[in-house]
Order: sequence, then C-alpha cells, then structure tokens
Amino acid sequence: VNAIDVIQAKRDGHRLTEEQVDWVVAAYTRGDVADEQMAALAMAILLNGMDAGEISRWTQAMIDSGDVLALGDVGRPLVDKHSTGGVGDKITLPLAPLVAACGAAVPQLSGRGLGHTGGTLDKLESIPGWRASLSEAEIAAQLADVGAVICATTPTLAPADRKLYALRDVTGTVESIPLIASSIMSKKIAEATGGLVLDVKAGSGAFMKTPDRARELAGTMVAIGAAHGLPTTALLTDMSVPLGRAVGNALEVAESVEVLRGGGPADVVELTVALAREMVALAGITDVDPAEVLASGAAYPVWERMIAAQSGDPSAPLPVAAHVEELVADRSGVLTHLDALAVGVAAWRLGAGRARKEDAVQAAAGIRLLAGVGDAVEAGQPLLELHTDTPEKVAGARAALAGGVLVSEEPAARPALIMDTLR
Ligand code: URA
Repeated sequence: VNAIDVIQAKRDGHRLTEEQVDWVVAAYTRGDVADEQMAALAMAILLNGMDAGEISRWTQAMIDSGDVLALGDVGRPLVDKHSTGGVGDKITLPLAPLVAACGAAVPQLSGRGLGHTGGTLDKLESIPGWRASLSEAEIAAQLADVGAVICATTPTLAPADRKLYALRDVTGTVESIPLIASSIMSKKIAEATGGLVLDVKAGSGAFMKTPDRARELAGTMVAIGAAHGLPTTALLTDMSVPLGRAVGNALEVAESVEVLRGGGPADVVELTVALAREMVALAGITDVDPAEVLASGAAYPVWERMIAAQSGDPSAPLPVAAHVEELVADRSGVLTHLDALAVGVAAWRLGAGRARKEDAVQAAAGIRLLAGVGDAVEAGQPLLELHTDTPEKVAGARAALAGGVLVSEEPAARPALIMDTLR
C-alpha cells in the first residue's frame, strides 16, 4: 500500500480496502504520510464519500492510533453524551451531575471552543481554581467517588483524530459526514463508555444547517456505535435560536447552577431531562426519573463535589464583565427572530470565544437574552445585554446582531426543541 494509490482510489470513486484504511491512518499518525497527501485524501473523501463499512474501519483505525482509556470498574455503569455544539449549549454542565445523581457514571472528555460555539472546558475554567487536565487514574477515582468527570481529552486518546482534525480545519474538509462521524465516535469509543447519547443539532447556530444533514450525521454515528458494540441513541434538536438565556462562559455556568438548583430556563431543563432519560435508560437504570431528581435540587451537591474534586471552588463568585450595555427593541411588536448564529458570533466578538487555538477567552464576556422568541416587546425595551471586558468590541458585536434580532407584527413561536430520536 502507498499513499498515492489510496488517494487515487478514493479520487476515482472506489471503495478503500480495510488494508488501505488501516495503513493510511497509521502511517499518517506516524508521520509517514505527509499532510498534503492526507489533505488530498480528505478532500477525495469529502467529495466521494465512504460507505458504512469504510467508515467503521476508519473509526477503528483512529481508535487504534492511541490507547483506549483504562478506567477499570468504577462501581457504576458508564454512560456519556456528546453534542455537536451550538450557541448557549451548556447542557453538559447540569447533565453530568444529574446523571451521576441518578446512579450512573459520566466520563465526559471535552474540548475547547473554536469559532462561534463555546467549549465546555472554557466554560468551566471561569470557575476559580478549576482544573481541566486529569490523569487517567484521577478520572477513574473521581468517577468512582463522585460519578461525574468533565475534563480535557487525554493526549493518547485517538491521536490520529487530533492531527487530522487540525488538518481538515485548514483545508476546507471539516464538512464531510464520514469524517465528522468517525472523528466524534473514535473519541467516544476510545473513552470506553458503555452507552452514548448524541445531541445532534440543526439550524443556523449548528454545524449542520439543515435537519436533513443533521439526520444523516446522526444516523451515521448511531450505525458506527452499533458496529462497535456501543449502544448509541441520537436526539435531533433545534439550534436556530440559542439555548437558554445565557451565552458566554461564566454566564452559562451561572445558568447551569440555576438549573441544578431546580430552576433555570424551560428549554435548558427540557433538553437536560430528555438527554438524561436516554442516558439512564442506556445505563440500565429504570427506577429513577431524572426530571424529579433535577427538580428536587439533588444534582446540585454532586455538581459541588465534581467541581471541588478538580480544585474548583463552587461557592466562589464568578467573574463579572467590566462593561455591560443593552440592545433595545427599535419598535413595539413581537420578537420574531433571535438567530443563534448572530448571537453566537456577537458573543464571540465580545470575547467569549477565540479565533485561533492559542487565543485566550474572556471568562465574563457574552450575552444575556432578556426576551425570547414570541414575546411581546415595547419600543425601547432591553432585549439583550452585551457583556465584555473590552468595550471597543461592542460595535462589532452589534454589527453581528443586525438582522439577527427582529421585532415585527407577526406572531412567532420558538421552534420545537426536540425534533426526533434515532436509536
Ligand atoms: N467535532 C469533532 O470532534 N470532529 C469533527 O470532525 C467535527 C466536530
């Protein structure tokens, strides 16, 4: 096998053999296949696709490029969740402690944000003292003790994916469903979870802009799970408007704490409970209703222990932005449009996100939504609060919001949040 043969085979629309897949992924990880060769292959895959068998083999080759997490017996069933990401998507924060409070263990290995969607680790790092990096032994001990860990992926987990994802990012080859599905699933399978629930988002603020593309991605990932003996359920959910009322790192932590205390916005509660129900079902827990556990506030002490176990102070005040200003309704009517992408880009420009991997994020930057789609509003009423430590960035954020926040005469309602479930 050599790299040029593999590239030409996929360029000409052929199926890659198992030998070709195994070789090219391993050789690329070792550095024996050059970046420009892998970039050409990724583009051929983007254009010509891969069938279910190729995708499954590709996923296995990415898992085999590193180590599978050896957590041992943590005394509870392991179950995890992955979201394809969206604006205001802080669901992992209340979800992991909730599912732990229901009796399962959640090994949530997460990433940082790039672009307009925030990363879970960036959000948690707004908590004073909190530490993202844990050793495998620390992860296992925390799962046994607390039942929930949210931490950075370990360096030996699917290293082929880390290298390939960085290459795809700069070669216009991120948007291939076989490559996205194998990327996500290789990391989750290597995490050694016993069950997986996927939140696959569709809409302006999501990776997949249409429900059809989101459904195709979800179906591809559920099939990979089945082929690898990992029971996987996918929810298709709306990301045309932001989730909840807070977008930005510390703002989202504060909203998650409200949810863990039994309050919080209805959409965040709805999605947290729906995902938790699927997770506890996959974990084989049948006698606990996550909705009741959440409403009772019983997940909050698990959150406190989860944060403290990673050196964070759950009772410390969260950072507050140096500058806050409002965006007000330009007329009276109904808030008909609150576009997720516009809000996400605006929060990013305020400092909540990064443009390059090495950039820092502002813990306190972001947006609070003061009204929701369908609400009647008066001219001059504040609709959004813009939070930043760098007020010179507000003009850019306002420009991003132009056209994304609309008040008109039409009636409007938030689209259904949960569109479908794939098993
Ligand atoms: N997230 C991933 O982990 N991988 C992709 O390819 C895209 C999004």
